[in-house]
Amino acid sequence: MTSTATLVTRSDDPSDPDWWRQAVVYQIYPRSFADSNGDGVGDLQGIISRVQYLTSLGIDAVWLSPFYPSALADGGYDVDDYRDVDPRLGTLSDFDELVAALHGAGLKLIVDIVPNHTSNLHEWFQEAVASPKGSAARDRYIFRDGTGADGNEPPSDWDSVFGGSAWAQTPDGQWYLHLFAAEQPDLNWGNAEVRDDFLTTLRFWSDRGVDGFRVDVAHALVKDLTEPLPSKSALPRQSESNGAHPLWDREGVHEIYTEWRKVLNEYDPPRSAVAEAFVPAARRARYASADGLGQAFNFDLLQADWDSGKFRAVIEENLALAEENGSSSTWVFSNHDVVRHATRYGLPTDPEGAWQDGKAWLLSNGTEPTVDVEQGLRRARAAVLLMLALPGSAYLYQGEELGLQEVGELPAASLQDPAYFRSKGAEKGRDGCRVPLPWTIGGLSFGFGSGGSHLLQPTWFGSYSVEAQEGDPSSTLSLYRKALAVRRGLQTGAGLDWIDDTEWALHFTRPGGWQSVTNFGAAPIELPEGAVVLSSSPLEGAKLPTDTTAWLI
Ligand code: GLC
Ligand code: CA
Repeated sequence: MTSTATLVTRSDDPSDPDWWRQAVVYQIYPRSFADSNGDGVGDLQGIISRVQYLTSLGIDAVWLSPFYPSALADGGYDVDDYRDVDPRLGTLSDFDELVAALHGAGLKLIVDIVPNHTSNLHEWFQEAVASPKGSAARDRYIFRDGTGADGNEPPSDWDSVFGGSAWAQTPDGQWYLHLFAAEQPDLNWGNAEVRDDFLTTLRFWSDRGVDGFRVDVAHALVKDLTEPLPSKSALPRQSESNGAHPLWDREGVHEIYTEWRKVLNEYDPPRSAVAEAFVPAARRARYASADGLGQAFNFDLLQADWDSGKFRAVIEENLALAEENGSSSTWVFSNHDVVRHATRYGLPTDPEGAWQDGKAWLLSNGTEPTVDVEQGLRRARAAVLLMLALPGSAYLYQGEELGLQEVGELPAASLQDPAYFRSKGAEKGRDGCRVPLPWTIGGLSFGFGSGGSHLLQPTWFGSYSVEAQEGDPSSTLSLYRKALAVRRGLQTGAGLDWIDDTEWALHFTRPGGWQSVTNFGAAPIELPEGAVVLSSSPLEGAKLPTDTTAWLI
């Protein structure tokens, strides 16, 4: 396949409106990145102190997960106030300092925006609970009377994403909808005040210099709650609903993003946006359209088995879709919601479906499958070189540049994820990928801060630390740095040409003669003609070993 997508080369011009199309974006989970004041929680000053590290990686932008005031019922995705900084993480003036530091280093900043739900501590929800049934305050959320003789049964049998009922009862007997934790009441996007307030929030952060937004559960905002509410057994499968599900991916959601796009385009350069929308690839294009958010996450590679045919199908489909709607594809292997990919690739092929279904969360304590750490890391390194050679933007998650493994051994008593509690322990949840980063080989909290760490770091963390890898040319950190530097010189927006060698290899060329070849097979294969510039594992003479990617020019 030859793609003829618009040629958009990378640019270091800060006013380039297309900067996001080929960007490498590094996700920071602020509470777990770097702690400046020794209270065990990462903070904005901690990030500022590591800007030089970010620059040394060679990334283009930082995506900050929520840093807003929050009781952390869901790691900050339960927002108390959309236009402030959590006092444990800093102040608005620290935020301004961070923007200045990143921009000064030539890096963009994307922030997370969480429009589907507020937290239960948000002043709107507090007001709603204190106000009577049918009040304007309740109309900002989704309140319904219960069923059963005394109304003490929920309005429907729907489940929340984290397990348990999607409805919770307030003291006066009414119920409110929460697709996630009970501390995350869903907003009513039919309410004009809700719509207007988010436009104010977009302007608030854009005015402060933010370059883009990552839109949390972007496909859930518009709902059809026409009564009688259907039973969950009558609901279409989310992935096949094509706009017919009452809760997910309804057509009306795009009107919201058209309105947002107008606001984002008031800025120069226009603010970018990327949708987190769990919808089939073909429906993703709408979220990524130029009059919508502009870009959408594609989790297809993250969910694909380590198999050349599956990888190729995903790549072809997504490049074609991005080209069709004038966007650029996104690629991602890890984020704060999934088991780190260096661990996933070391899991047995089908651990009873535990990491299927887009979640990739480990099973609860004691039932984890055995991880082949060496195979996991080897494949993770091969995967990232393949990803970084693709047209489009690449999203990296903090710690993957260290080849960090999931922390599977967190004791139950220290878990924080509502998915663990609401599933009654059936799912271990996402804390294992959110353990604070190791910066140094030893020391309290491995250089994360001068105090402890809000999630326990295992003893093996030091060997993955930045300090342990810094001077080692064969380390994963060195691989990422070299790969990003080479990509910077070669990446264009233009497509790729496949070269069919063997069925267990993926080999393609990019404009300028850049070639990437990955061996998914069990035996070494011949390297193609060309000069090798980088390989994810040592080569065996003129052969490319198993689970290895090489770049040639
Ligand atoms: C998104 C976030 C996840 C959060 C959920 C609810 O999927 O990535 O961390 O729990 O939305 O806000
Ligand atoms: Ca701190």
